[in-house]
Amino acid sequence: MNFDLSTEQKEIIDMAKKFVANEIIPVAQEFDEKGKFPREIFQKAWELGLINTSIPSEYGGAGFSNLDAVIITEALAYGCMGMNSSFMANDLALLPIVIGGSDEQKKKWLTPFTQEFKIAAFCLTEPNNGSDAAGIKTTIKDDGDHWVISGNKMWITNAGEADLYVVYGTVDPALKHKGISVCVVEKGAQGLEIGKKEDKMGHRASDTRGLTFNNVRVPKENMLGKPGDGWKIAMGTLDHSRPLVASSAVGGAQRALDESITYAKQRNQFGVPIAKHQAIQTIISDMAMKVEASRLLVQKAAVMADQGQRNTLVASYAKAFATDSCMQITTDAVQVYGGYGYSKEYPVEKLMRDAKLLQIYEGTSQIQRLVIAREVLS
Ligand code: CAA
Repeated sequence: MNFDLSTEQKEIIDMAKKFVANEIIPVAQEFDEKGKFPREIFQKAWELGLINTSIPSEYGGAGFSNLDAVIITEALAYGCMGMNSSFMANDLALLPIVIGGSDEQKKKWLTPFTQEFKIAAFCLTEPNNGSDAAGIKTTIKDDGDHWVISGNKMWITNAGEADLYVVYGTVDPALKHKGISVCVVEKGAQGLEIGKKEDKMGHRASDTRGLTFNNVRVPKENMLGKPGDGWKIAMGTLDHSRPLVASSAVGGAQRALDESITYAKQRNQFGVPIAKHQAIQTIISDMAMKVEASRLLVQKAAVMADQGQRNTLVASYAKAFATDSCMQITTDAVQVYGGYGYSKEYPVEKLMRDAKLLQIYEGTSQIQRLVIAREVLS
């Protein structure tokens, strides 16, 4: 077992860190305040090859491993977890094509993402079905040469900006998960209505909306796999994407730790920097331990996927542990800053707001524990 990163991995991390320091950190607060979508920054990240890490090299991608993807994501989320949500949502939407698409479908939909800057959205969640993904109500009906999609989606990242939507529905609700199917819908499809932008607590730079599909017709060849394959494609996608969310939590938590250390060395109380007080030292020690433990779980989940092993259990360990830890660590960072931590003039209150969503999307912390319990008890 070797915990060292390769020379190539160190180089890409250095490049990502420079990009984050120059392009993201100086403006993250402003984008958060205004709820502004970071299109130009997203495009620059694409130009540097830091996004769409899941596209295989046969289709023009850089051929990154899952381990490469999580270390890049950690570096980007260090700058802004909200912007990183938009970047990550591209991979979340492209993974079903990587996992369930035919060679022709991959050439048609993955390769263009390597040739020009494009945005994608993964459309699973509905107003009444979040955790219970098998219960989704959107229908996909057979109409000769076409599928007809009808229903509502909710909390869709990149919904208002996407060029491509990967949409889940059911060909027969009575079949439960065995009826779930997935189709690709292109921007501008007739009957696709884009909802209002949600005004969120955190991740305010990412674009989150509902979508309505009013009898949207797509050619038969837009379905990934066959009717009923959508569930396994969705679950396989989440096995790959949950370590990415967990690595976003590691990036946010590392930022909270670094900011806390810097502040604790500068802030004097009782005649010495607060870093000299054991009460602060124990907070910082707990933060550091949890960051390191989270990173190890994330990297294990990624390496298992790289080795072709099913990583469902470890991906859920990583998602639950890293995101819960990030929530605790960012809350503790506010505590280290005291009254200043509660002010928008300092970076830690944004970290705390951003951390919260990581415990909710791509399977809540409770759903991760449900997956873990089923795996360890079976
Ligand atoms: N890989 C392959 N197969 C899997 C699997 C996996 N990871 N997990 C489950 N399965 C299989 C099971 O083995 C079972 O197979 P059989 O039919 O052969 O027995 C089948 O799928 C059904 O499994 P369950 O009985 O466990 O299904 P369930 O209905 O009880 O639900 C769940 C399982 C894990 C709770 C699932 O509903 C789930 O993951 N829910 C959370 C949904 C989620 O994460 N949504 C995120 C949306 S995306 C987002 O948030 C991003 C954004 O843009 C905001």
